[in-house]
Amino acid sequence: MAKRKTKTPKVPASLPPVRQGLVSPKRDVPSVISRPPYAQTGDPGPSVLPLVRTENEIESMRKAGAIAAEVLLYVGEEVTPGISTDKLDQIAHHEIVRKGAYPSPLNYRGFPKSVCTSVNEVVCHGIPDSRQLQDGDIVNIDVTVYYEGVHGDTSVTFLVGDVDDHSRSLVDTTREALYRGMETVRNGSQVCDIGQAIEKYAHSNQLSVVREFIGHGVGPEFHSSLAIPHYFDRRATTELLTGMSFTIEPMLNLGGHALQMWDDTWTVVTSDGRRSAQFEHTLVVTDDGFEILTQTSSGTIPAEFFAGR
Ligand code: MF3
Ligand code: CO
Ligand code: CO
Repeated sequence: MAKRKTKTPKVPASLPPVRQGLVSPKRDVPSVISRPPYAQTGDPGPSVLPLVRTENEIESMRKAGAIAAEVLLYVGEEVTPGISTDKLDQIAHHEIVRKGAYPSPLNYRGFPKSVCTSVNEVVCHGIPDSRQLQDGDIVNIDVTVYYEGVHGDTSVTFLVGDVDDHSRSLVDTTREALYRGMETVRNGSQVCDIGQAIEKYAHSNQLSVVREFIGHGVGPEFHSSLAIPHYFDRRATTELLTGMSFTIEPMLNLGGHALQMWDDTWTVVTSDGRRSAQFEHTLVVTDDGFEILTQTSSGTIPAEFFAGR
């Protein structure tokens, strides 16, 4: 019998796993740029600050969030087959310091680079290295900057060239899951409402939700004590109040939620080797909802700008 030619959806052509490349030397930050307390020692110490921000802190967080968003837009334009994640780190680093900010990941608990780049089955905290992006990859770039004493933290998962349908829908569903979570946020809602909405949407799309890494309070501290699970946790009864600032940053997987860590002690990958996507915003709670702090001064939001590109 002759082989019939049928149009099959583009599925991942069992690409090889992501492997560690070479990590370039630590980049310099001009001495005029003000640094977070851990920049020298690597140790952020315990979280001690209140969860509600002052109006002055929120004003500074708008600026830090805008810089993070502008840098993410800028570096996102460079995502293309053949570019190394180290080059993306260099581009982001230079743009961050050009804007007078400090790249928050740099030396945070010893992290060696200025952004995180997480490719395919890498879930989060990928270290930029000499590996070149390949046609069909997905890559999350997570930008955090420190400016006027506060952090702005945001990430987007980008499509590299021609990406298979499953991966595209993983990326689209993860973006939408972030927004479903955000839409629960207002003065008087509970932390668990966020994860409940995200998990429901993920499961209705046959995706799993990462449990070991969660959203976090953010402000003068990079990671404060407020914990934001992306799954339903009935113990997460904390009431959200106007002025609280935190991230929502769901990681959704095509396969199971189990994770492993590389021996670099940073890179987190799925145990089954299937792909994972993530989007992240920094928010502040308002009386009747929330404000996205990680948008440019003219209101462009990277997660939305790159949707469907
Ligand atoms: N930006 C990451 C987050 O969303 C944290 C990166 S910490 C680093 O929380 F050390 F890995 F850079
Ligand atoms: Co974060
Ligand atoms: Co982040």
